[in-house]
Amino acid sequence: MSTFAKGLEGVIAAETNMSWIDGVNGVLEYVGINIDALAQNSTFEETVYLLWNKKLPTRSELDAFTKELRDHYSIPSEIKDRIKAIPATAEPMHVLRSLISELAFYDSNPNDNDVESARKKSINILGQAPALVAAYDRARRGLDVVEPDTELSFSQNFLYMLNGEKPTDTMARAFDICMITHADHGLNNSTFASRVVISTLSDVYSALTAAVGSLRGPLHGGANEGVMKMLNEIDSIDAVEDYVMTKLKNKDRIMGFGHRVYKAKDPRANELQKLAEQLAKDTGNEALFEKSHRIEEIMAREVGAKGIYPNVDFYSATTYHCIGLKLDLFTPMFAMSRLGGWSGHVIEQLGDNRLFRPKAEFVGEHNVPYVPIDER
Ligand code: ACO
Repeated sequence: MSTFAKGLEGVIAAETNMSWIDGVNGVLEYVGINIDALAQNSTFEETVYLLWNKKLPTRSELDAFTKELRDHYSIPSEIKDRIKAIPATAEPMHVLRSLISELAFYDSNPNDNDVESARKKSINILGQAPALVAAYDRARRGLDVVEPDTELSFSQNFLYMLNGEKPTDTMARAFDICMITHADHGLNNSTFASRVVISTLSDVYSALTAAVGSLRGPLHGGANEGVMKMLNEIDSIDAVEDYVMTKLKNKDRIMGFGHRVYKAKDPRANELQKLAEQLAKDTGNEALFEKSHRIEEIMAREVGAKGIYPNVDFYSATTYHCIGLKLDLFTPMFAMSRLGGWSGHVIEQLGDNRLFRPKAEFVGEHNVPYVPIDER
């Protein structure tokens, strides 16, 4: 007996022990630990270790994992040269997707799919992703590429390679919280894409490339850029009411709201809201935060009853803007973090693989006669 579920809504298609979501009450846990506790106390490196190993590391385990990741911060010189040749008009998400794929050229055994090889390839990709994004951003601005600094954490090192100077502790910590909160989220579209690809026993590079392609869509990770565009379109706090009401009247989507799983406020949005508010104050972007908050109030009044509340993308937009990131780097930031989650899912899938192969309901005609081309 097969049932049809458009968009696979409600279908359970995999088992995981990485993240758990209670969409009704707005709860997210990684390996049983509440996302608030991780956002407040953990680091991105520790969070990735947790997702991959299903336990928090001891000090020595974390040191070893961190060292292994830092040993992969550098990108091959051939890739650096290629980055310089990419048109400055290319979208960073297209660049990241293409370059993750190209990393396979520099792996002597790109197709090894045993669980330990998949873990090593995941470290290789996760370690290099920040350098790919930062190098492209600098190259398109006509600046020299900044070499990674293996004394720095994942987040510090990314901001250092992007800006050419070490970030303040506050900025690095804010960015790290963004990385922690975006790292994993059940069987979302991009994670599903990565599991679908690896289920053919293709390779980790192909699986993660597919996931980046999925994430860039405006209904998924691309929404954070949509939120920022919307905030820029609204001139002042007084213009928010009209803007939102017109959009709702026209049945347009308000970016950063709604979720297939959450019917309450996304708990990641709570953490990012706190961060956005503080950073907006620190960087003179109060107006941006106030506009966001006003949009949230109007949406709660108008569509809260339908379970449409802010999702992870809503306050991450203000947060990234205050950190000084350009608009088209917002979604690559999401991808850099989610590489941790995608990799964990790929490793899980390889550990207990079954090919994904759903069916489609055929809704076309049968017994259609073939008409020769000159008679059509
Ligand atoms: N603004 C206004 N109305 C909305 C929104 C929104 N952002 N989201 C859903 N709705 C309404 C729909 O119009 C629909 O109303 P109707 O029943 O009166 O026709 C109802 O809510 C259900 O919408 P669906 O599209 O069926 O819900 P679905 O679960 O498929 O969509 C999605 C989830 C795609 C995230 C949707 O809420 C959306 O488009 N949001 C805006 C884009 C966005 O923020 N995406 C990021 C999601 S989080 C992430 O992927 C990282």
